[in-house]
Amino acid sequence: MAELRTQVGIVGAGPAGLLLAHLLHLNGIDSVIVENRSREYVIDRVRAGVLEQGTVDLLHAMGVGAELQRRGLRHEGVYISFNGRRHRIDMTELSGGKAITVYGQNEVVRDLIDARIGTGRPLYFNAQGVEVAALESSQPVVRFSHDGCAHQVHCDFVAGCDGFHGVCRPSIPDGVLSIYERTYPFGWLGILAEAAPSSDELVYTYHDRGFALFSMRSTSVTRLYLQVPPDEPIENWSDERIWDELLRRMTTSDGWKPNVGPILQKSVTPMRSFVAAPMRNGRLFLAGDAAHIVPPTGAKGLNLAAADVVVLARAVKAFYETGSTNWLESYSSICLRRVWKAQRFSWWMTTLLHRLPDENEFDHQRQLADLDYLTTSRAAMTSLAEQYVGLPWEVPLESVVLSRGA
Ligand code: FAD
Ligand code: PHB
Repeated sequence: MAELRTQVGIVGAGPAGLLLAHLLHLNGIDSVIVENRSREYVIDRVRAGVLEQGTVDLLHAMGVGAELQRRGLRHEGVYISFNGRRHRIDMTELSGGKAITVYGQNEVVRDLIDARIGTGRPLYFNAQGVEVAALESSQPVVRFSHDGCAHQVHCDFVAGCDGFHGVCRPSIPDGVLSIYERTYPFGWLGILAEAAPSSDELVYTYHDRGFALFSMRSTSVTRLYLQVPPDEPIENWSDERIWDELLRRMTTSDGWKPNVGPILQKSVTPMRSFVAAPMRNGRLFLAGDAAHIVPPTGAKGLNLAAADVVVLARAVKAFYETGSTNWLESYSSICLRRVWKAQRFSWWMTTLLHRLPDENEFDHQRQLADLDYLTTSRAAMTSLAEQYVGLPWEVPLESVVLSRGA
C-alpha cells in the first residue's frame, strides 16, 4: 500500500477539480487529484461551450488563459428566435461591458491539465475503486488503486469534484443532505458538425415542434441541439433526420439557417435540476456537478463549478493562513445563494423555450407572450443579459489569485 499525504485530496479532474487544484497551487497549497477516467476520455468529452465573463477573468488571472485568448470567441449578443424571427439581445450594452466567450469545456480541461502537469503536483488518471472515508475526522482519506497498487492519501480536506455520478456525495451518511430535484419530460440531442457557423452569435429557438439551439466551437465547427423525448434512442436519428428537423425548427422567415455539414459526434442528454444541501459534511466539501445540476439551457453548469471552487479556495487559504474556519463554515451557504439563482435562471430559460408534452393552449400563448415581452422590454432584456454573462462573484478574485494577465 502506498501511503501519501497532502493538504487537499481532490476527487475528479473535471473543471471543478482542476480549477481548484490550480487555485490552491497558486496559493502554495498542495493537493492530490484522483480521476477514474483516462486523460484522453476527460479531454475528448464534449460538453459545455459558454464561459461567463467572470470565468474568463478567472482563467486569465490564474495564468491559464493563453489559448482561451487565442481561440475563444467573444460574443456580445445572443438571439432569441420565435415565430420565424430572430431577436438580438445586446448583452454587452445591457450589462455594462460584459460578454460571454465560446470556448469548449474540453479545451478548458486540456489547458488546466497542462497547467497541472506543469506544476509537478500529482494527478492520477485511471484510478480504480476510488473511495473517501473518515470524513468527520481531522484526517480524511482518499483510497484508490493505480496500476495495480493500492494507494491511501491522508488529507486535511477532501474536495468532492467528481460530478453527478461520483462517489463523494453518496459517501455522506443518510439524513445529512436535503435533496431538491426536478426532472424534465425532454432531453437534448446534441451534434457537432463540420460546418462554418452561419451566425456569429448563439440562437435559442422556440418552435411549435420544440426547442433548438445554434452554437459553435470554432470558425469551422457548429454545435447544435434539438429538444427530443427524454430517453430518446440516438439510433432513431439518422444524420438526414437530424438536419431535416434542425432546419425545420431554425430557418427564419428572412432565410437564415444553420450551414449543413458532416456530423462529427451526436448524443442525447437528459435534463435535470438538482441541489444537494449543505454542500459539506465534516471535512468533505462538494463542488460543481457533485452538488448541483442545472438544465443546460442557461449555460450555467461549468460556470457554477468555477464559482464554487473560488469560494472553496478562499476558505482553505484562510484556514492555512490564519487557522480560521469561518470561511469553511460559510462555504455551503455562500455557494448556495448563487446556485439557487442559477437554478432559477436555468429553469426559467428551460420552461420559456421548450414545448411541454402536457401543456395546453393557454400555456402556449403565455410562453409566446413571455418571449414577446423578453424581446421588446429593455428591463427584461437587461435581466437576461446580467444573468447570462454571469452575476458578480461571491468573493473578489484578488482574494484567491493575483492577476497574471492572459
Ligand atoms: P464533471 O465535468 O462531471 O467532472 C467530474 C469528474 O470526476 C469527471 O472527470 C469524472 O470522470 C470524475 N469522476 C467521476 N466519478 C469519479 C470517481 N468515482 N472517482 C474519481 N473521479 C471520478 N455548462 C456551462 O457552464 N455552459 C454550457 O454551455 C454548458 N453546456 C452543457 C451542455 C451539455 C450537453 C451538458 C451535458 C452539460 C453542459 N454544461 C454547461 C454543464 C457542464 O458540462 C458541467 O456542469 C460541468 O462539467 C461540471 O464540472 P464538474 O467538474 O463539476 O463535473
Ligand atoms: C454549447 O455551446 O454547447 C451550449 C451553448 C449554450 C447552452 C448550452 C450549450 O445554453
